[in-house]
Amino acid sequence: MSSAGFQRVAVIGAGTMGNGIAQTFATHGADVVLIDVVEPALKKGLATIEKSLGKFAEKGKLTAADAKATLARVKPSTSLQDARAAELVVEAVVEKADVKRKVFQELDALAPSATILATNTSSISITEIAAATKRADRVIGMHFMNPVPLMTLVEVIRGQETSDATTARVVEASKAIGKTPVEASDYPGFVSNRVLMPMINEAAFCLMEGVATKDAIDTVMKLGMNHPMGPLALADLIGLDVCLDILEVLHSGLGDDKYRPCPLLRRMVAAGRLGKKTGKGFHDYP
Ligand code: NAI
Repeated sequence: MSSAGFQRVAVIGAGTMGNGIAQTFATHGADVVLIDVVEPALKKGLATIEKSLGKFAEKGKLTAADAKATLARVKPSTSLQDARAAELVVEAVVEKADVKRKVFQELDALAPSATILATNTSSISITEIAAATKRADRVIGMHFMNPVPLMTLVEVIRGQETSDATTARVVEASKAIGKTPVEASDYPGFVSNRVLMPMINEAAFCLMEGVATKDAIDTVMKLGMNHPMGPLALADLIGLDVCLDILEVLHSGLGDDKYRPCPLLRRMVAAGRLGKKTGKGFHDYP
């Protein structure tokens, strides 16, 4: 790991984002502890990392030995206590403010005072999460994109009290793991989801109102707007539950009904159709 990076990193949450974040830091030489409260989620996260590293090796972007060494640098744990030795903690648990605040409160109590606590939240206020700690100057948003090993953007979000030193370290650390950091201010959805989610939501309304079929909606945006994937397929990739949570934050945080979640999206989440991760979303993933 280059001098600008962090050698010891803890990632909290081993789901869609957490395992990708852990893989990315480990690929660049960091020792990573990957923590999840759900043991099977941890197993699934590690299996996903192994599979992804295998693909990089197949493409010749990584030697088989490096892939093996990278996987060995990721240590799974079900105890938050194992984040104690980290210089940087990146939280990637569910998009619920109360859950995140509790995790940050616990991290604040156990981590050395110099440790930077970052959150991968898509939309929740960094300032609000930081207020659960006694180190608001060392709390920051580090918003990775999905799939993390492939997507180069990191949206770096400063909370009200985030210091210049914390921001500079996180910007440098993002570059050290091959990403391009872009700074944004702490408003609901930041830039990425404030722009993206209304499009996904509107695509769901188009489907609900019968404007077009799901395939037609995705094809219009792919061929007409040159998007690499359609908005409904993208929602499936992100997770429909995550999309709904983000829309709720935009709706309440900005107080504008243009962000009200589409009833069809709500119904699909209630039915457990969460997208790629459950095999069924707007599209099917057999
Ligand atoms: P996910 O549902 O795939 O994974 C969340 C994981 O957190 C689960 O494995 C769960 O067991 C674990 N967890 C829940 N409570 C925990 C706790 N107290 N301590 C430790 N682990 C706990 O969710 P996903 O998609 O990975 O999202 C995680 C975060 O990343 C959210 O804040 C989301 O908004 C954000 N995000 C998601 C993106 C996406 O495309 N899915 C993109 C960018 C950010």
